[in-house]
Amino acid sequence: MTHIPCAVIILAAGKGTRMKSTKAKILHEIAGRPMVLHALDAVESLNPQKKIVVVSPDMDDVTRVVLNDDDTVEIVVQPKTLGTGHAVQCVAEKLVKFNGNIVVLFGDTPLMTAQTLQRFDELMQAHDVGVIGFRADDPTGYGRLIRGDDGNITAIREHKDASAGEREIDFCNSGVVGMAGKDFPVLIEALSNDNANGEYYLTDVIEIAASLGLKVGAIECDEEEVLGVNTKTQLSNAETIYQNRARARAMENGVQMVAPTTVYFSHDTVIKPDVIIEPNVVFGPGVFVSSGATIRAFCHIEGALIGKNASIGPYARLRPGTVLSDAVKVGNFVEIKNAEISKGAKVNHLSYVGDAKVGAHANIGAGTITCNYDGFNKHLTEIGEGAFIGSNSSLVAPVRIADGAYVGSGSVITKDVNRDALAISRGKQKNIDGWAKTYRCKNVKNKKTAKD
Ligand code: UD1
Ligand code: CA
Repeated sequence: MTHIPCAVIILAAGKGTRMKSTKAKILHEIAGRPMVLHALDAVESLNPQKKIVVVSPDMDDVTRVVLNDDDTVEIVVQPKTLGTGHAVQCVAEKLVKFNGNIVVLFGDTPLMTAQTLQRFDELMQAHDVGVIGFRADDPTGYGRLIRGDDGNITAIREHKDASAGEREIDFCNSGVVGMAGKDFPVLIEALSNDNANGEYYLTDVIEIAASLGLKVGAIECDEEEVLGVNTKTQLSNAETIYQNRARARAMENGVQMVAPTTVYFSHDTVIKPDVIIEPNVVFGPGVFVSSGATIRAFCHIEGALIGKNASIGPYARLRPGTVLSDAVKVGNFVEIKNAEISKGAKVNHLSYVGDAKVGAHANIGAGTITCNYDGFNKHLTEIGEGAFIGSNSSLVAPVRIADGAYVGSGSVITKDVNRDALAISRGKQKNIDGWAKTYRCKNVKNKKTAKD
């Protein structure tokens, strides 16, 4: 049998007032990625031929975020939020000629897994209409999946419209509904708003399909996957679930974590096997960590590539544009930004290295600062291979310290330094023998006189 392709509709209209935010609900982020994009990521596993996102008229920001991520998505505006069924009716005209299954998901359920969607796709290969259900610990508020005497699903009853007996059912609607393209126009056309909410319910397509003798099926998924995010508390619950999954995945891939619940990943963090991550590490977007690296406690890392066997922290901050080659050492209280640090170089303590290139095996002493900003522009600092920068030096960019050069500690370097040269720029030291003793005696005497 040939595989029936699908089109996907993600419903994202409505303000989400319970978030109490000026930002659209589905733009709130989980692991640094807007919820609606998580939903779009999950459906990729279905290899959909069409992806349609339904938004409200005032949601240009959502449109921008979605199209910026994936310009193959089509945006449909639902003029008024008259219900999930109405939202799908607004899309109907785009799908009249579509010869495949239509799968509808909600934009505010960001934890649906690719595996569950694939199982659903299998169900839809052999059914006219399908739904993903789950067993709810507390089913209050959810639509209930009603079964007929033969065990087949015959309807979804929304909580408000359900009888006392139906409310006892704990098998609930996740919101994912599928329809064969051949039946889609008829099912969608037949929806009415004759219910407790006065809304067009998408869920009514199940009862309509059953009454037309169509084949209706359901699969079950974990309640965790269908957590709907309507409030900031639910957003943080979803984040916790996402992070736990990411931690488990990292450990399965060979990453060692001492205290996994204290490590936070971004949606795109890549960590290779045999990396050790100590407690309390936060990964922002765009991080790649090569195998054998150690990330010590309390590091904050974003937009950084970390080479093999590198050692970072404790208490290091790597900002966007950081590229660390193999075996680089970045120690405590070091900040690095937009800088390439070559193989085996060391920045061990209390330094700021920004807009810089550091050669292989260079040694940057404690308290070194690249003065990269003049109040208007950023400038480059170049430090050559095997160069040695003495502690507490300021390198005023643009400046170049050639291979093998030394910078005396405490220097303020404003001019380029030649290969293998020594640059010192600080007040010359003067020693005055006996000065301290004389000073002390004089002051002790004065103090005594004052007391008398
Ligand atoms: C819905 C289901 C319910 C299910 C529950 C799971 C219906 C009628 N009910 O209820 O069976 O158990 O989700 O969480 O489908 N939306 C639009 N346009 C609209 C209305 C909603 O795009 O006019 C979008 C919302 O942005 C949201 C989604 O559809 O992403 C769900 O809408 P919501 O009003 O939250 O439905 P529930 O009452 O939670
Ligand atoms: Ca909801």
